Amino acid sequence: MAQAGVQHSMTLRTDAWWVAPLVTFVMLSAFVVYTTWRIIENQYYLAEPYLSPLYSPLLLLDWWPLSPAILILWAPGGFRLTCYYYRKAYYRSFVLSPPACAVDRGKPGEYCGETRFPLILQNLHRYFFYAAGVVLVFLWYDAFKAFVFDEKFGVGVGSIVLLLNAALLTMYSLSCHSFRHMIGGKLNVFSKCPTRFMLWKAVSGFNEHHMFWAWFSLIVVSLTDLYVRLVASGAIQDVRFI
Ligand code: FES
Repeated sequence: MAQAGVQHSMTLRTDAWWVAPLVTFVMLSAFVVYTTWRIIENQYYLAEPYLSPLYSPLLLLDWWPLSPAILILWAPGGFRLTCYYYRKAYYRSFVLSPPACAVDRGKPGEYCGETRFPLILQNLHRYFFYAAGVVLVFLWYDAFKAFVFDEKFGVGVGSIVLLLNAALLTMYSLSCHSFRHMIGGKLNVFSKCPTRFMLWKAVSGFNEHHMFWAWFSLIVVSLTDLYVRLVASGAIQDVRFI
């Protein structure tokens, strides 16, 4: 009887395994709702010299009737959506398949991983890496521009926020599993390529903390946009240090 009970329960785990997927669900949902609202809002994204990362590069297009953020965010959005870490996170928290390690997903059926449509599209991750890399170049340009006020050097809270945002997104990209593979994945003999080996070791170090960079950069990119929005809408004033 005891064995039958075990067979029907989802798990033998007695710890609070459901906390992590629940927190992930709440955080990712909040990010998607906020970002969608900001894309639709289509204003308050420029408070000179600060530009929101959701609208960078600045596109002034007469022929495009919708929010220009749509033309930009497919790249970093696709990069996040197909990220190895986020896949695990939202497979667990949104579709509970499975909800956690050693917890049954409750649906009998054949497991085919990401070998069929639509999940096979997750393999596009490397290409989103390239596209998001282009956007990242513009974010660094914006970060440097955020230190120029009326053609003079200056520092405001926004300057620091934009710089932090670009730095965190860079760390998120540099710690990417695909990038690690690009750097050293195809090498059989590291001693023949000492430079790539050195880079691979550095990227491997970043990669160990990929989850941390994923969350930290996600939160900061939202807060950066929020800061620019508050300044642009006049809700707050930027504080200048220099
Ligand atoms: S694996 Fe997460 S960004 Fe590439």
